[in-house]
Amino acid sequence: MARLQFLCLSLLALCAVCWNPVQGVAVMSVDFGSEWMKIAIVSPGVPMEIVLNKESKRKTPVAIAFRNDERTIGEDAYTIGVKFPSNMYFYLLELLGKTLDNPLVQLYQKRFPYYKLVEDPERKTLLFEHDSETKFSPEELVAMILTKAKEYAESFAQQQITETVITVPAFFSQAERRAMLKAAELAGIKVLQLINSNTAAALDYGIFRRKDFNETAQNILFYDMGASSTVATVASYQVVKTKEKGYAEYHPQVSVIGLGYDRTLGGLEIQIRLRDFLGKAFNEMKKTKNDVFQNPRAMAKLFKEAGRVKNVLSANVDHYAQVENLIDEQDFRYQVTREQLENLCSDLFERVTVPIERALASAKLTLDEIGHIIIVGAGTRMPKVQEVLTAFTKRELGKNLNADEAAALGAVYRAADLSTGFQVKKFMTKDAVVLPIEVDFERELDAGEDNKKVVKIVRRTLFPAMNPYPQKKVLTFNKHHEDFTFYVNYGNMSSFPESEVAVIGSTNLTRVQLSGIAVGLAKHQDDGAEFKGIKAHFSIDDSGLLSLSTVESTFEKIHPVVEEQPEAANNTQGDGTNSTDSSNSTEKNSTSTKQEKKPKVEIIKEEISKTEFVLDLQDLTGASLTLAQKRINELNEKDRARKEKEIAQNNLETFILDIQDKLSQEEFQSLVTEEDRTKIFEKCSETSEWLYDDGSDVEAKEYQKKLQVLKDLTGEMFERHREHRDRPEVIAAFKNALNVSTHFLSKLRNATPDEKYLDDDDLDGLETLLEDNQSWLDKKMLAQKDTPLYEAPVLTLRAIADKMNTMDKEVKMLVNKAKNARTKRLKELAEKLKEFDKKANETTDETKQESAEKKDKDADNTKGDSETEQSANPLDDDHVEL
Ligand SMILES: *[C@@H]1O[C@H](CO)[C@@H](O)[C@H](O)[C@H]1NC(C)=O
Ligand SMILES: *[C@@H]1O[C@H](CO)[C@@H](O)[C@H](O)[C@H]1NC(C)=O
Ligand SMILES: *[C@@H]1O[C@H](CO)[C@@H](O)[C@H](O)[C@H]1NC(C)=O
Ligand SMILES: *[C@@H]1O[C@H](CO)[C@@H](O)[C@H](O)[C@H]1NC(C)=O
Ligand SMILES: *[C@@H]1O[C@H](CO)[C@@H](O)[C@H](O)[C@H]1NC(C)=O
Ligand SMILES: *[C@@H]1O[C@H](CO)[C@@H](O)[C@H](O)[C@H]1NC(C)=O
Ligand SMILES: *[C@@H]1O[C@H](CO)[C@@H](O)[C@H](O)[C@H]1NC(C)=O
Ligand SMILES: *[C@@H]1O[C@H](CO)[C@@H](O)[C@H](O)[C@H]1NC(C)=O
Ligand SMILES: *[C@@H]1O[C@H](CO)[C@@H](O)[C@H](O)[C@H]1NC(C)=O
Ligand SMILES: *[C@@H]1O[C@H](CO)[C@@H](O)[C@H](O)[C@H]1NC(C)=O
Repeated sequence: MARLQFLCLSLLALCAVCWNPVQGVAVMSVDFGSEWMKIAIVSPGVPMEIVLNKESKRKTPVAIAFRNDERTIGEDAYTIGVKFPSNMYFYLLELLGKTLDNPLVQLYQKRFPYYKLVEDPERKTLLFEHDSETKFSPEELVAMILTKAKEYAESFAQQQITETVITVPAFFSQAERRAMLKAAELAGIKVLQLINSNTAAALDYGIFRRKDFNETAQNILFYDMGASSTVATVASYQVVKTKEKGYAEYHPQVSVIGLGYDRTLGGLEIQIRLRDFLGKAFNEMKKTKNDVFQNPRAMAKLFKEAGRVKNVLSANVDHYAQVENLIDEQDFRYQVTREQLENLCSDLFERVTVPIERALASAKLTLDEIGHIIIVGAGTRMPKVQEVLTAFTKRELGKNLNADEAAALGAVYRAADLSTGFQVKKFMTKDAVVLPIEVDFERELDAGEDNKKVVKIVRRTLFPAMNPYPQKKVLTFNKHHEDFTFYVNYGNMSSFPESEVAVIGSTNLTRVQLSGIAVGLAKHQDDGAEFKGIKAHFSIDDSGLLSLSTVESTFEKIHPVVEEQPEAANNTQGDGTNSTDSSNSTEKNSTSTKQEKKPKVEIIKEEISKTEFVLDLQDLTGASLTLAQKRINELNEKDRARKEKEIAQNNLETFILDIQDKLSQEEFQSLVTEEDRTKIFEKCSETSEWLYDDGSDVEAKEYQKKLQVLKDLTGEMFERHREHRDRPEVIAAFKNALNVSTHFLSKLRNATPDEKYLDDDDLDGLETLLEDNQSWLDKKMLAQKDTPLYEAPVLTLRAIADKMNTMDKEVKMLVNKAKNARTKRLKELAEKLKEFDKKANETTDETKQESAEKKDKDADNTKGDSETEQSANPLDDDHVEL
């Protein structure tokens, strides 16, 4: 059943993403979760598909380990992690873009006490102290995992891939988003866009149901409980009208209109609680004096077992936790019931519905206004979670979305849309600002009673919560005539829980210092231009990143032109905000007012220089970035060298086995002398011994050298094998060519004078040539018969091929000569026919009509052909029927 659904999805995907064969370069997506990552690609002519990793699995653990100078990622890293817990790093997503004292980082340290977390002295962010010389930043570790994702995608697509869309949690702040982009930069990946994973999943839901949407908005609630966090999203689907290149078009669109989340509610918290529960149970058994909580390896084993038991308890009501040699040679076996697990997590279940309530509140909707509720994420598999959700929503919960892979597929669809190589049926997305953004600045008020200056902090909301993006906004400062400073901050977060505000850390984003304002003002003091304020151009891009592009002073100059009242440009605003696109277009309109009778309003802009200071979190830059990059390059090089070595070692081993096998076959034995055979055998066993001894761990080129020696020693034998094997076939081909040529010759010889296109000299020449070749072949074949198999052949494939080639050329030349002669003769004939035609035209009209009819028929045929061609076109969507 599940399989069938998957099949249908892939077929549908073919409709959704079409291939533009002109520039076919594959693109990829990484759904980078906290526990797993899923990778998807779209390549030319192939629908969206999930990439299989090295183990042929559809998802890869986000884990990386370092041990004995070797770096491992994914399942391999987990294997290391059970034995050497502090050598393996996982759950890295929630550590991106955070200071060491961030509550989430502290929680991580508490959950996994065996990691040594230290502070980056400059950025105040956390670093993993791996050993005395190495400290890894989360960005660096994520970069290495992303590199692996790219490698998997490339080997799956069988081509290089550079363009990627990466998912991030919807609640990611500016600093967290920038950290993910930095990781991608370190990995050498070109990020087309960061996409919120809930939006990607909602997009995936939409592209497979395109036909269900119309101009009436449909609201769907997605509830996603993952490993680390829970997100509830209200997505609104609607067909909207857009204008592109002057044409109105209708496209489906999904907009995020409500969001609620809990950064720490998820499977990991449950697993940690179960781990600690099991640890306590073991300690209480008093099997050993040692505290299991003080032993990292035992804790890693318990953590792994807790994960397994947690999953089993979703289907069964009880289960035994079992760990062999947990600590001090002591095994652990303990029965856990589902009820026990649920009791452990009772406070967590109270938090389950909060994200939904917050999502509905931010969307200003009630449950009744929600069409479907769809649950995704591994966390929702817990029966208790579903029970709570069902009780709260009083609805049937939809599970029809291929939950695990929806975000990766939605993201890769977006990647195909953004890259130039694919034609994609439009499905637009509008995301929503989670953390409001405001601009704060100081303003001096008029002197008070006691003549003291009063300074007031003015706050202007720039992007309120749930504001759609991507979006551009212009902020106008009307009262500033001198240089000043403003702050870009997160806005009023009173509606967010305290825990969330603590995680955000600094609510200041940037301080912007403007300079040169007075200079600009002075410039237009006497030219009649009126100061219209200072405009700051902000935007939030597709990735959810805020930026300030330019700041400029604006002036308006009115050039009066005859009659009529001027229609002043009405884009002045109060002190502060307001604005956006509308002011932009108004400006455009007024500047382009060209009608003679109206006064011309000229808008003058003077760019103001600005300096931005980052206040939330310094990005990984400078020396630390260089060091990280260098280390990544070195590790990549080591990986490459190791792989090359493995391949070289394997090639040598295989070659030896192959020779030993071949030399035991009669077919090959006859190809070498006794003496040579012994020599080869000896060399083989010598190399074989070396491989398991001195040569067990040397550089790739050492293996390659040894392989070359063996190849030199056996090269002639293999060459002879090929000669003897292929000779009969090549001789047959040559004989056939001689035969064909002989027939050609005799045909020419017997031609009637009318069709005789070659003269006798040519024919005689050809005859000699054929005879010579025939006798050469006969002679050589005899000689070869008398040559022992182990000696160099006297009749080689090369020699036969050369003969055949020259003969072929000669014959072709004669054929051409004959053809030309014939064409010439036909032309003369045609001339004669024309003459005849002329006379015939005078006699009748009927023939004319007939040929006209025939023409029509021909035309019909052509049309028919092209129709068939079109329907076979891979770009034709309706072509695939379900
Ligand atoms: C839009 O679709 C919904 C449900 O699919 C339907 O109830 C509604 O009548 C449709 N509206 C229009 C204008 O077609
Ligand atoms: C923040 O918003 C709340 C209402 O949501 C309001 O009561 C409060 O006064 C605001 N705080 C500030 C500092 O503006
Ligand atoms: C943060 O912004 C406020 C203005 O809202 C400003 O007064 C304060 O100095 C800023 N904090 C820092 C650390 O720059
Ligand atoms: C500008 O527009 C507002 C409303 O859009 C209007 O109230 C105001 O009178 C206009 N001002 C001018 C100068 O036209
Ligand atoms: C300006 O802002 C006010 C309130 O902030 C709003 O009512 C008005 O519609 C806005 N005007 C424009 C042009 O955005
Ligand atoms: C403002 O206008 C320019 C050109 O007139 C255009 O390129 C830009 O996209 C517009 N910005 C907005 C926010 O509409
Ligand atoms: C320009 O103004 C006209 C009428 O004044 C209006 O219909 C049109 O939409 C405006 N164009 C823009 C780009 O704002
Ligand atoms: C030579 O070619 C002719 C016709 O092309 C064919 O009938 C005849 O069997 C061929 N002879 C040999 C020996 O291949
Ligand atoms: C065979 O044919 C080639 C080219 O057609 C010619 O050069 C050569 O002399 C012929 N005879 C022998 C014995 O190779
Ligand atoms: C004779 O008629 C045919 C069509 O009927 C025409 O194509 C051809 O050009 C004519 N020939 C001459 C010499 O007029």
